Amino acid sequence: MRNIDQHNITEAVIARFASCDNPRLKEVLSSLVTHLHDFVREVKLTEPEWMEGIRFLTATGQMCDSKRQEFILLSDTLGVSMLTVALNQSRPAGATEATVFGPFHTDDAPHVAAGANVAEGAPGEPLFVEVEVVDLQGRPVADAEVDVWQADEEGLYDVQRPELGDTRRARGVLRTDAQGRTHFRSVVPTAYPVPTDGPVGCLLVASGRHPWRPAHVHFLIRAPGYRTLITHLFRDPDPYLDSDVVFGVRSSLIAPFVHHASGPLLDGPHSTLKHRFVLDAEAGAGAGAPAR
Ligand code: BEZ
Ligand code: FE
Repeated sequence: MRNIDQHNITEAVIARFASCDNPRLKEVLSSLVTHLHDFVREVKLTEPEWMEGIRFLTATGQMCDSKRQEFILLSDTLGVSMLTVALNQSRPAGATEATVFGPFHTDDAPHVAAGANVAEGAPGEPLFVEVEVVDLQGRPVADAEVDVWQADEEGLYDVQRPELGDTRRARGVLRTDAQGRTHFRSVVPTAYPVPTDGPVGCLLVASGRHPWRPAHVHFLIRAPGYRTLITHLFRDPDPYLDSDVVFGVRSSLIAPFVHHASGPLLDGPHSTLKHRFVLDAEAGAGAGAPAR
């Protein structure tokens, strides 16, 4: 095919995928090219704008290393991460909703016993968290792994504090008991901005957007026979609940962090949080599987 023009180039590119023997790759690439070309035609992309796009994507790649994933941040702030979660993680009524994973989970969080202070030394008001994990019928899920992580009162995760080196703080992995319960001590989280020192931060500024996430605690809960749940609990009130920069807030995940001036668990100010997480069974799981 020669003399390709703006009207037939999309068809020409898609035709080149004819001998792709991976049908899913072929479908995804064909759709991607169709949408990209339609976008270029719709906005009548100029050559300097095309160059600026290339410069932006190059800078985004150059910002990535083993601790920083600027492309995921781009996906998060453009709503692509949350859209992918929404498409793939719909759950039956009654099951706890999923939300974005975020970049701050680590695989080396300490495994701790119920009652542990997972945020020893972190700045912030003490927070006592009681967790219950149940199935859709309300039956306890025993021995579930409850992996928690969060930012401290200054809005920083341990991995954002070079002075901590490899020390893990404000994160831990617990297991539920026979009643599906566990509990831990941490600190009350605060709202924090996503990293703004890279190209994604420049894009947020250029587009008149703020970089803030409402205060939250992350949870990753897994148990054999159940769908793994990746979610947050958001603190109410928070000025950013309706404008989370990564679009992750679900009403069902806004939880009461109750402030106490003193007592019941500590002399002096602290907060408590209780939450029941409801897991749905993995497709094809036997006992505990919901009727579908
Ligand atoms: C987070 O909650 O940790 C997070 C999620 C998406 C982008 C940046 C941070
Ligand atoms: Fe977070």
